[in-house]
Amino acid sequence: MLTSGKRNSLTTHMKKNPWTPDSWRAFPAKHIPDDYPDAAALGSVERILRGFPPLVFAGEARKLKAALAEAADGHAFLLQGGDCAESFKEFHPDNIRDTFRVLMQMAVVLTFAGGKPVIKLGRIAGQFAKPRSELTETRDGVTLPAYRGDNINGMEFTPAARIPDPDRLLRAFSQSAATLNLLRAFAGGGYADLHNVHRWNLGFVADSPQGQRYRELADKISESLEFMAACGVTPDSTPQMRQVDLFTSHEALLLGFEEAMTRVDSTSGEYYDTSAHFLWIGDRTRQPDGAHVEFCRGIRNPIGLKCGPNLKPDELLRLIDILNPQDEPGRLTLIARFGSDKVAAGLPHLVRAVRRSGARVVWSCDPMHGNTLRTDSGFKTRPVDRILSEIRQFMDILTAEGAHPGGVHLEMSGQNVTECLGGAQAITEEDLSSRYHTHCDPRLNGEQALEIAFLIAEKLRAGRAEARAVAAG
Ligand code: PEP
Ligand code: CO
Repeated sequence: MLTSGKRNSLTTHMKKNPWTPDSWRAFPAKHIPDDYPDAAALGSVERILRGFPPLVFAGEARKLKAALAEAADGHAFLLQGGDCAESFKEFHPDNIRDTFRVLMQMAVVLTFAGGKPVIKLGRIAGQFAKPRSELTETRDGVTLPAYRGDNINGMEFTPAARIPDPDRLLRAFSQSAATLNLLRAFAGGGYADLHNVHRWNLGFVADSPQGQRYRELADKISESLEFMAACGVTPDSTPQMRQVDLFTSHEALLLGFEEAMTRVDSTSGEYYDTSAHFLWIGDRTRQPDGAHVEFCRGIRNPIGLKCGPNLKPDELLRLIDILNPQDEPGRLTLIARFGSDKVAAGLPHLVRAVRRSGARVVWSCDPMHGNTLRTDSGFKTRPVDRILSEIRQFMDILTAEGAHPGGVHLEMSGQNVTECLGGAQAITEEDLSSRYHTHCDPRLNGEQALEIAFLIAEKLRAGRAEARAVAAG
């Protein structure tokens, strides 16, 4: 934990500076565009957003927090995934359905083969704004402002498209609302009924080795359902068999938008950011005295914190104190994103420091953002081997340190994209150009995502068997 001197100065600072939805505006803010040509137009869009209905309800965020508290104790597993960046162009019901379907497939594998309840959290219905390493982009000698996500500017390489346009926030809100509406229909309207377990395997995945493996597992589930029905356990007697809880998340990057969506919950009297159930702070914006940490400390949603190779144990403990001073279980998920070559050196110190402090957190693994490379032909990609390796190392490190590997955070698509190298389909550098659709970082395709689910499930099962053996002496 913090030395008492540091803790006191922090507490004094916070008492002196009570939190409000706009208190972040007094702090240095990275990765928020400051080049809107018309500040008044941005202000009026934010005012309109303040009057829009919330996308999620505070009670749902509390339900997610309670589920995450279970993951912190090793009794559940968090599956968080979706696009790196949603886009206006890729907005299509089939894409939403396919992301939903892959999440369901993975959840079934993790629940049935891994033996843990799975918390399903989409990177969806609001994941638009992106932090960028470079503020500009140069092509053939022409330099323009970087693309920052469809809710800010356009991806086309023209001066006009790259000017931030506040009206894009309204379109992003409407796309998020429509996406969430369809997801809620899938989750509660019958599509997620366990009896449909075979239907989630349609399309290109079904013909793959992972698809075959999934089919065998789905057969077993169907058999179990028949057995349960014979015993009188049916969707009529047990409605949970017919529906799932699917939660939404995105990076809390564009704080003007997040502020506009933050409302007082009438039940608890507390502030919730109603743009999503779960918000996370990115690796580039987690400065303890920065605007993003200031904003997130005051909302009561469960939140995530990306932890990369530059994060020192002391700074992490300071962030935990700021973001979860009451040590509320389920409030904070630490998302490790080191890279397969750095995780062994960097993660154990952090896990140890957190263990020693007694803080209750969920440890999740983002095996994507530390494993990005560029091919000679210029494609940003990620080798599946490295992704699998980082997950394996993450799970081993957490277990060795006496903590729980509590989740995974993936950039993935249900579509048959060719953005990450390798996997059972053995996607090569030459294959990348055939279906490379991402608006930002390379995503796993449905089959690669399923392969990862099987790997995690095996490791979870092995961990449980070991724990049982220890318990039996
Ligand atoms: C992301 O999750 O898309 C992202 C930018 O990650 P990080 O902050 O970990 O780099
Ligand atoms: Co990304």
